[in-house]
Order: sequence, then structure tokens, then C-alpha cells
Amino acid sequence: MHVDIITVVPGLLEGPFSHSILQRAEDKGLAKVRIHNLRDYATGKQKQVDDYAFGGGAGMVLMIEPVLRCINALKAQRTYDEVIYMSPDGEVFDQKMANSLSLNENLIILCGHYKGVDERVRQHLITKEISIGDYVLSGGELAAAVVTDAVIRLIPGVLNDETSALTDSFQDGLLAPPVYTRPAEYEGMKVPEILLSGHGAKIENWRFEESVRRTKERRPDLLEGKNLE
Ligand code: ADE
Repeated sequence: MHVDIITVVPGLLEGPFSHSILQRAEDKGLAKVRIHNLRDYATGKQKQVDDYAFGGGAGMVLMIEPVLRCINALKAQRTYDEVIYMSPDGEVFDQKMANSLSLNENLIILCGHYKGVDERVRQHLITKEISIGDYVLSGGELAAAVVTDAVIRLIPGVLNDETSALTDSFQDGLLAPPVYTRPAEYEGMKVPEILLSGHGAKIENWRFEESVRRTKERRPDLLEGKNLE
């Protein structure tokens, strides 16, 4: 999978993709994340990427021209499944959307900044708008990092067996059960007996019941319309 992220603040995205699982995905040749500085696609001496909003009002707006030049340059190299715009008015991101995006081959993600981007970009170039929640960030970069991380870790081969995404919270619509590691007892705090029993089927059953209990307690909304009997 190729993910091309377009931003006016590339520095904000350098850290998240050079570590751990995402770096491994890149090393294994399973995913490639490229950061593109919108300013490189601006014309003129000033390399201007934003301008005042027509009609007045506070805040600058990303201009259509550099965005179009950048997206067209990328589209000349490969065919994209989606051109995504990160915005608080997009569809709210969840595990289901992550699963479905992970089936794509090539994605462009445009990060908004300032007051957003010229509406004509959204109308004519963007195929999907995503929000990571009902709050406003100072730009789309951190949101793009969240979406890219959640999607790339689902690509087959990126995670090994121990970190398999199949046992994640939300993957079966339930929160994950509690986990423990050695020592089995620490200052009187004990690991549940069942986990030390070596009885695979009973452990599976315990984990499922704990998942349900935790979900009922913390996120009862996830259980609506679900038959767990
Ligand atoms: N840009 C600013 N706030 C955002 C949010 N909540 N989700 C996605 N992009 C954003």
C-alpha cells in the first residue's frame, strides 16, 4: 500500500512513521508512507500556499492551485483508490472504516490547515472526508497519522502472531479482555488462577466473558443490537 500525505507542516509527520510497526511495514515492503510538502508545488517567489478567504473573516485558506498540482503529480505516478481530506466535518473514523481502507492499494491524504482548503478542492478532487472525532485539531496531520497507523497495521504480514489485529479491541465489536504477564504474584496482587491453568478452552471462555463484562461496563453502546448468548 502506498499512502501519500500532503501537508504544509511535514515536520509534524516525520516522527510517527519512522518507528516500530510502521517502519517494519516499510522494511518488509508492505507499505510505503510518503510525506509531500505542499509548498514544493506552489509557484512564484513566495511559494504561497494559502490566501485570505473571499468575503472576509479570520484565517487563511489553502489555495486550490498547489493542491491540484500536487495531486495531479501523484496521480501521474499511480492510480489512487481514495483522495482523503482530513477534517472535523468528515465521517467519523472507526475500526470498520480502518478495515475497509486497509483493502486499498493507494491512498492520498490531504491535511487541512488554518481555516481549511478552498471548497472547490473538496468538491472536485476529494473522494472521502474523515474526522477522527468531535474536536478540532490545529491541522489534519495528527489525524492523518492516526488513520495511517490504524490502517497499515491491518495489512496482512505487518503484525506478527503475537500482535495479531484479530484480537484487538473493536475487531469483534467488543473491548479486549485484561492481560497479565510475569510475575504471577506481585506484592499480594495475583493473576487470575484460570490464566495459569493451561486449559485453553476455559481461558478462551474467560477472555470472552471478560470482554463482554468490560464492554458492558465501559461502552454499553457497542452492545446495542448484539446477541451474546
Ligand atoms: N483537522 C482538524 N480537526 C480534525 C479532526 N477532528 N479530524 C480530522 N481532521 C481534523
